[in-house]
Amino acid sequence: MTHILAIDQGTTSSRAILFNRDMQIVATEQEEFPQHFPASGWVEHDPADLWGTVERTCTAVIAQAGLKASDVVAIGITNQRETTLVWDRATGEPVCNAIVWQDRRTSDTCETLRAAGHEPMVVGKTGLLLDPYFSGTKLKWILDNVDGARARAESGELLFGTVDCFLIWKLTGGTVHATDATNAARTLLYDIHKGGWSRSICDLLDIPVGMLPDVRDCAADFGETDLLGEAVPILGVAGDQQAATIGQACFEPGMMKSTYGTGCFALLNTGDTPVASGSRLLTTIAYQLGGKPTYALEGSIFIAGAVIQWLRDGLKIISSAPESQPLAEQADTAQNVILVPAFTGLGAPYWNADCRGAIFGLTRNTGPAELARAALESVGYQTRDLLEAMQADWPAETREAVLRVDGGMTASDWGMQFLSDIIGAPVDRPGILETTALGAAWLAGMEAGLYPDQQAFAERWSRDRRFEPDMADHDRDARYEAWKRAVHATIAAV
Ligand code: G3P
Repeated sequence: MTHILAIDQGTTSSRAILFNRDMQIVATEQEEFPQHFPASGWVEHDPADLWGTVERTCTAVIAQAGLKASDVVAIGITNQRETTLVWDRATGEPVCNAIVWQDRRTSDTCETLRAAGHEPMVVGKTGLLLDPYFSGTKLKWILDNVDGARARAESGELLFGTVDCFLIWKLTGGTVHATDATNAARTLLYDIHKGGWSRSICDLLDIPVGMLPDVRDCAADFGETDLLGEAVPILGVAGDQQAATIGQACFEPGMMKSTYGTGCFALLNTGDTPVASGSRLLTTIAYQLGGKPTYALEGSIFIAGAVIQWLRDGLKIISSAPESQPLAEQADTAQNVILVPAFTGLGAPYWNADCRGAIFGLTRNTGPAELARAALESVGYQTRDLLEAMQADWPAETREAVLRVDGGMTASDWGMQFLSDIIGAPVDRPGILETTALGAAWLAGMEAGLYPDQQAFAERWSRDRRFEPDMADHDRDARYEAWKRAVHATIAAV
């Protein structure tokens, strides 16, 4: 019994990652699955794809490593958050496709609730905003729009869950209906202060409380699965951004991490204090261990790595993501082209669902190199927006002025140097970039007694490289001011 299996069910692919007793990765399997866009602004996943890719990658990774079920001590799950599923308690059959976190179909519902004055109550209890991003209004949509769903939910036939919960249900053969506190905290239905489902929000959204799962710690007993041929316990669960926070060992108040995937999610550990944001950041649960929640401020940006995909698939000026850096390095430094990648609106701290992307400062000499540079720089500027908002919400004396980064885009030295330059603070890139999977593995391995405790785990965190700011203050300020003007012009153009 020497290994931990981490399942990372993400927005575009599912991965199974096997860690040995030294917390080193020994094998990885990954499978992409189709995205469904049935209407403008709608994004769905077929639940059969979510489960099928998890099932296949898990069995394949064990085979790849030449192991068997009895070599696996425990399983940890991490997942795309907020994505909403409803299924039949008896048959396990979903009533419709999963509605993905990116889906905007409930914008009008959110607007109506906001106009009726409900936002302060919802923010006060959940730490979230009335935005279609979260599960609550997506669940309401399913109950209101899928034939017979509301009646079946009210009679106790249907269950709700985020992706972790659905996978636990499938893995345990329908015997466990549970989620963890970090995933619950993203539903818009969970009172993060009291630690329970909010009756008043469920009433407001017409959601039967009986269809909601049991909420457990991140390191806890989530049942056993015989997926690998013999019973293996599931002992760790956390939403992917929270798992990355754990994998980055951001355990002290004031520590923060930023993960660069399709979007970018920055979390600042605020310890025992759920800090209410005056800057439209989210208050959320970073992790819950031993029955005790640790809170975080979160800034969510919808487009980070996706802007590089746009260079590749939309503009076709690069053929693979790594080409963006050498191209950006060739840019004419005299041109200050600014790209505001509001392709699907803007997330924190602007929360404008209607604005769309814009490019400023084009000249006749602007070409692919300047656009590539503007794309990479947009990620740095957006991160600075989040950090400014965090600083406003939680004054600097307790904030450690170092940003720990992870995710695919952090492989670019040029991008990380610009990030450090524009935020004016050191940026630390860890030795293990798979921090999300590591976080889930550590939760399960620690609960199983295979991995070190929290403090010893934090001490093992190591840096691959630190990027120090190397930009004159006046240059940094002028560039950031230009970015702010560009964002405001983008919003004003709606
Ligand atoms: O909140 C959404 C986030 O959890 C999605 O993460 O990495 O699957 O794009 P990712």
